[in-house]
Amino acid sequence: MAFLDQHKKLERNVSLLFVFSLIAVLIGGIIEIVPLFYVKNTIEKVEGMRPYTPLELAGRNIYVREGCYLCHSQMIRPFRDEVERYGHYSLAAESMYDHPFQWGSKRTGPDLARVGGRYSDEWHVQHLAHPQSVVPESIMPSYSFLKNAVVDTKHFADHLKANRAVGVPYSDAMIENASADINAQANPDVDAGGLEERYAKISVRDFDGNPEQVTEMDALVAYLQMLGTLVDLEAYKQNENLR
Ligand code: HEC
Repeated sequence: MAFLDQHKKLERNVSLLFVFSLIAVLIGGIIEIVPLFYVKNTIEKVEGMRPYTPLELAGRNIYVREGCYLCHSQMIRPFRDEVERYGHYSLAAESMYDHPFQWGSKRTGPDLARVGGRYSDEWHVQHLAHPQSVVPESIMPSYSFLKNAVVDTKHFADHLKANRAVGVPYSDAMIENASADINAQANPDVDAGGLEERYAKISVRDFDGNPEQVTEMDALVAYLQMLGTLVDLEAYKQNENLR
């Protein structure tokens, strides 16, 4: 057949094959990519999401540094078994201020996307320091050294600035007060100086039970206790029903 003879030519000529492959890939690419330019927003608007406080951000850095994401995901999939165990499935907006996101790809331990408020601070401190003392069969390693490591607040304003550069809406006041805010959130006796106006739904308390210092344990527990608590899920569910 004439048509197949033509194809033979294509298969035997490397340059020609390359050009036609390129055309095929381009057509496929255009079909996939062009519609995205017409979608206004890929992240649904939700109530309550705010940038992380400097203390929570410090905790998040420790989470990344220690590789917690290697054993824990932060992404509840919309399947019945997951929703029954962990709560409402994760929304895109809930990780929009994560750079990089912490969805993870492996669950040696449970998902942590909604762990905030599920346990007391004391439980977290005890568990992070000696996981087997509260969950005897646990294979999670001990992070007791976090109790003695003081949070480095010196360059925290730069840290917020770097996040702002990639799109997290930190205000000038938030950046100016970054280091002071770290101390104020972990120390209820310190004058918070507007901290609670800057960040909605914030927990101000001594997280690690040691009021003398702001430790990495304070920061990590503050971060864990915030996870999944910011977005108003009741409002989200109501909107979902109206749609
Ligand atoms: C080697 C894998 C591993 C690493 C690394 C790890 N974990 Fe875990 N984690 C587990 C396992 C397994 C469990 C379940 C048993 C338990 O509660 O200890 C768990 C449980 C937890 C829980 C309780 C969750 C719940 O809903 O009951 C929290 C919170 C937690 N880990 C936080 C962390 C943090 C923070 C880090 C990093 C500093 C971390 N984990 C690092 C394996 C790990």
